[in-house]
Amino acid sequence: MPRNIIDVIDLSVAEIDQLIATAEDIIANPVKYQDACAHKQLATLFFEPSTRTRLSFESAMLALGGSVLGFSEANSSSAAKGETVGDTVHTVSCYADIIAMRHPKEGAPYAAAQFSEVPIINAGDGGHNHPTQTLTDLLTIHREKGRLDGFTIGFCGDLKFGRTVHSLVNALSRYGNINFVLISPEELKLPRYVKEQSLKPKGIPYTQTTDLESVIPQLDILYMTRVQRERFFNEEDYLRLKDSYILTPEKLRSAKPDLSILHPLPRVNEIAVAVDKDPRAAYWKQVKNGKFIRMALILKLLGIEV
Ligand code: NCD
Repeated sequence: MPRNIIDVIDLSVAEIDQLIATAEDIIANPVKYQDACAHKQLATLFFEPSTRTRLSFESAMLALGGSVLGFSEANSSSAAKGETVGDTVHTVSCYADIIAMRHPKEGAPYAAAQFSEVPIINAGDGGHNHPTQTLTDLLTIHREKGRLDGFTIGFCGDLKFGRTVHSLVNALSRYGNINFVLISPEELKLPRYVKEQSLKPKGIPYTQTTDLESVIPQLDILYMTRVQRERFFNEEDYLRLKDSYILTPEKLRSAKPDLSILHPLPRVNEIAVAVDKDPRAAYWKQVKNGKFIRMALILKLLGIEV
């Protein structure tokens, strides 16, 4: 069986630390890695829209000297003819050495992996998980703070449908001395299963609030998210909740001087563009980090040492 990354806990803490170390080495010495994946092929199978995840995977493989193939919408694949994801992935695993797959249905990459002869990476499954965004987030936190423990992190926005939040909470629950502040409208609270899996068994402290401004002063990291329109059952609810939080320079006045602001992107309205100039904004650095950590992950899953 090939090694798959479906959930962030498919990687041990030691392996995550190693991936971060490899990504740091790639950032420092890119030339050393430029032919590491020569003659290897990455397939990106995206049944759902994406900019950063797909292109960072492709850019990562190209920067390793490999090549890429794939599709960026379900309609351009045989899914449109009624092919199952299992058969699609079985087919692609005959042509590629490694597959990154995004799908609107929770669990689809896990199911597809049963039909693959090569490693499958979950590039986002519905409102469930997004392990490689989490690796990106962890690399960013590590670069910003120099550590992955001992801080207060606020998650703000759509904590119900935001898969990046679920995976990052899960990952951080394995590091020590982290205080979680969950900021969302009542309707978009972190699902109970995430709290029960990640926070409660370990007695990890968390608070829930609807009010961003009252908690901003205590945060070391603020993880903003978009309200996930595509996962709503009706447009009315989306319209009512979409602008629940808008981070502005004024709201940041009471924040710590060394706060780090993260966002997986795309942003819609939840961070004013004026915040981009604030030195505490780390989300454009996060975009760059996404490529380097994916390079590290591809090398690991292909068993290539440089
Ligand atoms: C996120 C996703 O797809 O879950 N984007 C990303 O991969 N960088 C967040 C989002 O879509 O809001």
